[in-house]
Amino acid sequence: MADRVAPDPQFESLLSYIQESRGVDFRGYKRTSLRRRIALRMEATGAEDFAAYRVQLEVQPGEFAELLNTVLINVTSFFRDADAWEVLREQVVPAIIKAAEKNVGIRVWSVGCASGEEPFSIAMLFAEALGVAEFCERVKIYATDLDEEALRSARQASYGPRDVENVPPDLLEKYFEKTKNHYLFSRELRKCVIFGQHNVVHDAPISRIDLLTCRNLLIYLEAETQSVVLPRLHYAMNPNGYLFLGKAETQLARSALFRSVKAKYRIFTKVPQEWRRSIGGSFSSSRPRMEPSGADARMWRR
Ligand SMILES: C[S@@+](CC[C@H](N)C(=O)[O-])C[C@H]1O[C@@H](n2cnc3c(N)ncnc32)[C@H](O)[C@@H]1O
Repeated sequence: MADRVAPDPQFESLLSYIQESRGVDFRGYKRTSLRRRIALRMEATGAEDFAAYRVQLEVQPGEFAELLNTVLINVTSFFRDADAWEVLREQVVPAIIKAAEKNVGIRVWSVGCASGEEPFSIAMLFAEALGVAEFCERVKIYATDLDEEALRSARQASYGPRDVENVPPDLLEKYFEKTKNHYLFSRELRKCVIFGQHNVVHDAPISRIDLLTCRNLLIYLEAETQSVVLPRLHYAMNPNGYLFLGKAETQLARSALFRSVKAKYRIFTKVPQEWRRSIGGSFSSSRPRMEPSGADARMWRR
């Protein structure tokens, strides 16, 4: 539901400034939590009002990254909500493998992947099911986020002991290289995970996806913005594809676009829809920034 807070011109002007100067549009995010989070940065920088905070953004080089970290909340973990991942491992991954034609490949998209724990968890599930060699041959995992800093950390794939607490010991042993203080995720599996910056609200979706995870992102968006994103996720999925949402994301129970497979674990399939101009029409102007052109584009079409 949309926040019922009267628009504050100073706040709206700050959001417009962020959008114009940095290209990040927070206007579709829930107002009350957005204000609360920006207020945290205002407090940290000593800015007394939104106008003063705008000055901070202009003069402090690192402040925009701090703001993104605070607003976007990059909290994540390996196998977050373990019981839902168990259902994914036992039922969804085998169903996807069974349905996939050998020569076509399996395509996964982790939307809002933060620092990589989610796509790497998916990689481990498929590698366990297929074996590493077949995984590398058949599976491509696209992992996208709005936040470049989170993506940088995801690409490094290096995690502290507390970060890997949820990884079952056998998988930790098999898929991580232990350095002095860190655990480095398998170089081989990483080759099949492609990270890229992508704004799920504005950018064109990736297509022909067999498993789409969009967890703990939609909850931050206004209902109106969610209703822009959901058809894009629907478009992205193969007819037999699966959608995996976060525990708190109950809104899809009401969406006509998806049918729940395991409602308790927020696992859905898509309901076939007529192609709609309103969904497809805007794509040409908004190409995902991570999708390469030329020779590398072949990789994307696998
Ligand atoms: C709370 S984290 C969730 C991470 C992971 N999916 C999980 O459930 O553990 C939300 C992530 O969504 C990203 N995000 C927020 N808005 C986004 C947008 N419009 N497009 C892409 N990513 C976005 C944030 O940067 C953040 O990394």
